[in-house]
Amino acid sequence: MYQKFGKIKDMKILGIETAVDETAAAVVEDGYKILSDVISSQTNLHAKYGGVVPEVAARNHIARIIPIIRVVLKECGLDVSSIDAIAVATTPGLLIALLAGIETAKTLAFVFNKPLMAINDLESHAYANWLEKKDLLARLQDKSQWPLIYLIVSGGTTALFLAHYFGDYKLIGQTRDDACGEAFDKIAKLLGLPYPGGPAIQKSAEEGDASAFDLPRPMLNTPNFDFSFSGLKTAAFREVKSCQKKTQQKNLSPSRINDFAASVQEAIADVLVTKTLRAAKKYQAKAIAVGGGVAANTRLRELLLGRSNVPVFFPPVKFCTDNAAMLAGCAHYYAKKGIFTPWQKTKPFFYTNIKGKTCEF
Ligand code: KG4
Repeated sequence: MYQKFGKIKDMKILGIETAVDETAAAVVEDGYKILSDVISSQTNLHAKYGGVVPEVAARNHIARIIPIIRVVLKECGLDVSSIDAIAVATTPGLLIALLAGIETAKTLAFVFNKPLMAINDLESHAYANWLEKKDLLARLQDKSQWPLIYLIVSGGTTALFLAHYFGDYKLIGQTRDDACGEAFDKIAKLLGLPYPGGPAIQKSAEEGDASAFDLPRPMLNTPNFDFSFSGLKTAAFREVKSCQKKTQQKNLSPSRINDFAASVQEAIADVLVTKTLRAAKKYQAKAIAVGGGVAANTRLRELLLGRSNVPVFFPPVKFCTDNAAMLAGCAHYYAKKGIFTPWQKTKPFFYTNIKGKTCEF
């Protein structure tokens, strides 16, 4: 039999995140107040491979997650039995990385008899915008402030959602191949820049000329909200090869690398911004909320804020990449309504929606 839990009003939720290469736990009160938040990034472990190795990520999550939960609880003077509910990221992510957090959350929920919520990381990336923003969150309780467009951009995702309210969102477009973060990472590697590629390209682009290379803007004018970034990767590869051939040099000069980085960043930001604004117009969105690692990009921020005529929200850079505070905050809305996922049903790629249904992503 599944344990039934009632609605919880004033609550402290423990969030657990291990979807990719960040091991994180946090306790958030009432959907916005961060009592404690720890993120342990494995970026250095994966840098030499130029991308995340799932097996390495999972092994390190397993070693780190319990000590991190202990630190988080100690920091806010709580123990597991005084937590009201547990939220865990169940999708999207790397299967064996997700499993580390999911099995930990399930075990804690079972042993301490706590309600559990299987949260879609993409929804929580948008929610990162409301953390520590009590007044803004209060304003958003009013349904007339919606719909919003969520643009979620990370190493594995590029997606647009139409959000009618907290927990009530619909996918309206996504990448048909690579995510924009993947394009940043792989093109950076091609240019000899370090991993992760997004911040490296951004830094190099500061000294470059964004009009130096004429790179494609894939799917810019298609009558839908889908994206594609694999063609941009191929175009970048061809351009770099042709530069090498012309100069008879293996590596591009530092100034050409800066120009190339600026041109790539501009092409990616232009496509993301154009499609997001088109979606906002079509659905008469009241605002746009951006989330995910690529949301840290300064050129994306500048372009979207400059071109949008509705308010645009970006989380603080710390909450753009995976973290557990966004999950614990996002789960508040579900717990308030008494929507929980039985631990027996909690597994990778399945999450709870606001109607209490289990969905697959
Ligand atoms: O959200 P995240 O941690 O998700 C995944 O692990 O997938 O995002 C990581 C991605 C990487 O592709 C990284 O290159 C990109 O976010 N990123 C950036 C920036 N900071 C991180 N991309 C562009 N500009 C940045 N400043």
